[in-house]
Amino acid sequence: MRNILFVASECVPFIKTGGLADVVGSLPKYFNKDEFDCRVIIPKYMCMKYEYVQQLEYVTHFYMQLNWRSQYVGVFKTVYDGVTIYMIDNEYYFGGDRPYGDICYDIEKFAFFSRAALSVLPVIGFRPDIIHCHDWQTGLVPVYLKDCFAQGDFYRGIKSIMTIHNLKFQGIWDVKTVRDIAGLSDYYFTSDKLRCYEDANLLKGGIVYADYVTTVSETYAEEIKTPFFGENLDGLMRARSNCLAGIVNGIDYDTYNPETDPYIYRNYNVDTFRKEKKANKRQLQQDLGMNVDDGKFMIGIVSRLTDQKGFDLIAYIMDELCQEDVQIVVLGTGEERYENMFRHFDWKYHGKVSAQIYYSEEMSHKIYAACDAFLMPSLFEPCGLSQLMSLRYGTVPIVRETGGLRDTVEPYNEYESKGTGFSFTNYNAHEMLGVIRYAMNTFYNKKREWNKMVDRGMMADFSWKTSAGKYEQLYRNLLY
Ligand code: ADP
Ligand code: GLC
Repeated sequence: MRNILFVASECVPFIKTGGLADVVGSLPKYFNKDEFDCRVIIPKYMCMKYEYVQQLEYVTHFYMQLNWRSQYVGVFKTVYDGVTIYMIDNEYYFGGDRPYGDICYDIEKFAFFSRAALSVLPVIGFRPDIIHCHDWQTGLVPVYLKDCFAQGDFYRGIKSIMTIHNLKFQGIWDVKTVRDIAGLSDYYFTSDKLRCYEDANLLKGGIVYADYVTTVSETYAEEIKTPFFGENLDGLMRARSNCLAGIVNGIDYDTYNPETDPYIYRNYNVDTFRKEKKANKRQLQQDLGMNVDDGKFMIGIVSRLTDQKGFDLIAYIMDELCQEDVQIVVLGTGEERYENMFRHFDWKYHGKVSAQIYYSEEMSHKIYAACDAFLMPSLFEPCGLSQLMSLRYGTVPIVRETGGLRDTVEPYNEYESKGTGFSFTNYNAHEMLGVIRYAMNTFYNKKREWNKMVDRGMMADFSWKTSAGKYEQLYRNLLY
């Protein structure tokens, strides 16, 4: 039996702001339990829902040095879906109303978390063979593991993996402050280690010190070796390319299952979607105060409203798009300008456009189930889970060919009757509009073709089965 520890800042169902939480909360369930004991450690945020706080069991507490600071570390534990989850408690760091806030506080918060995640291991009696870190928040874990923790027998030989879910976020702050917070010597703050240009960079530390680096799709693993996607670390990504792999994400096929999903109005499968998706659409139209017409081409968007997701393209053609015979439903929160943009179009084209500016797991499922198409024209996309959820719910994705979108959506080929969605290449609003019109035309005028595409999408396998196997193989390669 080999022990694996996931260290991350989010994990469903406890705390989620994006796809990272979906991955951390579902992948461990899919490892072979006879070979791997995979556990997860996350912060115990005070904004976590009470129903989850209630389930936690207090394990222990102690004080830990974080440079000159002595900090309380509480440890809680729960078992969810057969996976052991540990949570680090400290109300000073994790007391906010959201997991992330100002980066200058977040740097200290996650330096504390990274060190605490290592410090608790002997106390709880769990010695991982591999520590699998996710994103910049855990970038110091591989560094600490090679630094102060390397001396103790307990930690010697523990391997680490750094998975990059989004290279845009790196945890950058000035060297002096980070050195003081992290308690690392000057040795670490040179440009071949944590320093990146003038600043300290936590993710860079993780990438340099981890034994292996992965990211969440094959295409993104290539893209980040180039300056545009590399976010100043493309040189490092090229340097580490013999220890870098892209493993595409899966989704939890139990949670995202139109046949059993308790959130959607009517359950369905690949045999019944023709009728039942329409019923879902009618009910959603009614609930959201839209024009009720189950024949309308309905496009869904469920997303963080940020530049990454291509919302400037949508803003640019929204008026033109609304002249078409479509309905658009948006669920998202994020940058104010995009929130207000959708509110504006909801007001201007009421009945046709619906802007739901909030976060709701339940509403997201209803939208995946009710819509005909799902729009995701990202500027860059490490993997993307929303398009996978759409495929599973028979909702045809319209995506830009980048990162994981390129790897998971096969473009429609009308001559060979192949493909699972629609895609375009250039980051250009009218190229996108052209593809949306092409999809709409297929929907209205070639219904049989459309339905066959829905069929193919629903049958495609984006469960964790294949990708969990790839992680297992990577673990074995590192250990044997
Ligand atoms: P990212 O992690 O970059 O935000 P992904 O596509 O990987 O993008 O994952 C996004 C996840 O967050 C999906 O599970 C999606 O359904 C969910 N999501 C995004 N915005 C909302 C929202 N406003 N309400 C509910 N779920 C949302
Ligand atoms: C990040 C990326 C997204 C990916 C998710 C999970 O949030 O933006 O593309 O699907 O992580 O890996």
